[in-house]
Amino acid sequence: MRTPLASLMARAVEIARNGGRAVYPNPMVGAVICDDEGNILSEGWHRCCGGDHAEVDALKKLDRSATGLTMLVTLEPCNHFGRTPPCSHAIVAAGIKKVYIASHEPTEKACGGCDYLTSHGVAVEFVPGFEEELAELNRFFSATAKERRPWVTLKAATTADGFIAPPGGGRFAISSPEALVEGHRLRAGHMAIAVGAGTVNSDDPLLTVRLVEGPDPIPVIFSARLALKPDRRVLDRAPIIFTAVADRHRVALLAARGCRIETLTPGAGSIGRALSVLWERYRINSLLVEGGAALHTSFLAEGLVDEMVRFIAPLPLGEGIALAEPAEADRRFRLHAVSPCGADVMQVWRR
Ligand SMILES: NC(=O)c1ccc[n+]([C@@H]2O[C@H](COP(=O)([O-])OP(=O)(O)OC[C@H]3O[C@@H](n4cnc5c(N)ncnc54)[C@H](OP(=O)(O)O)[C@@H]3O)[C@@H](O)[C@H]2O)c1
Repeated sequence: MRTPLASLMARAVEIARNGGRAVYPNPMVGAVICDDEGNILSEGWHRCCGGDHAEVDALKKLDRSATGLTMLVTLEPCNHFGRTPPCSHAIVAAGIKKVYIASHEPTEKACGGCDYLTSHGVAVEFVPGFEEELAELNRFFSATAKERRPWVTLKAATTADGFIAPPGGGRFAISSPEALVEGHRLRAGHMAIAVGAGTVNSDDPLLTVRLVEGPDPIPVIFSARLALKPDRRVLDRAPIIFTAVADRHRVALLAARGCRIETLTPGAGSIGRALSVLWERYRINSLLVEGGAALHTSFLAEGLVDEMVRFIAPLPLGEGIALAEPAEADRRFRLHAVSPCGADVMQVWRR
């Protein structure tokens, strides 16, 4: 082949990104079909959840027979009947002779594509070097595949001395305009956004995306005691509410407004069980937890945080509600990225 395999696979990774959030909760996947010389004859990507997978998209766009051609695909072709038929079958039926992959299918239900291909006479080879990039691109998908829960990002804006709100709480402007825009970009990138009852009551947040283009995340409220002020605007956005209260009257009032009430069994593991519900019942692959401190503490205590994003403003406050920190023993977080954001500093911490 004249074109190096790595360049062809790099192109497949590049076009995988076209899927963006439309593919959630599926992974972003790209595929190219080329001849023996490495000339790309067709490109495809997974466009939206329920739509054609990358391999089928590339096959459909090919304006000649696929017999004897080569396919490079960023993820092992699926081998199951889901919303669409198995890509492994489509590849064999089309007559592709060789398939290069850059990552393996992590879910039990869809794996086995490579075995199917080889047992039907299609050669399969792994192209190394893209594992890290693909893991980053599809980190939400990996969280659901491996842990059967959404990826969790904790986001907080703090003062220079580590406070998220003044004493007693209440709405308080901490962030620069640039940090607010980044915060909305984070909202648009996650399927759901969670806050505690304290934040709902004190800030009356809408939890929508307004400062950038993008879809609104699904609001999720944690309120063990269901102590929510009834006039809060987010209650009209069909939030999912996790509560330990079983009072039929109170629950019925909220349900009549469109709220989706989920039972939260208090005690150890309650956040983990809530995350399972968000994945199993709502297929939410990513959750941005905006706070406040009590809710952040609950997530950190159960070790269910994948990423922490902090916007640190230059001025101190002196006193207030302190930012929740991982337990002293939890040394898994490493500074992943740091950048200026207007007058603030944006830090990204990863497990
Ligand atoms: N700077 C920032 O980035 C930022 C972001 C968000 C909020 N804030 C500020 O933070 C302040 C509020 O923080 P906060 O710590 O007082 O309140 P909070 O964390 O927003 O809410 C606390 C409430 O959430 C519920 N909750 C928390 N953990 C739970 C769990 N594991 N299970 C079930 N329910 C749970 C409980 O509700 P019930 O009482 O109903 O049981 C609890 O009283 C506000 O002033 C707000 O402005 C700042």
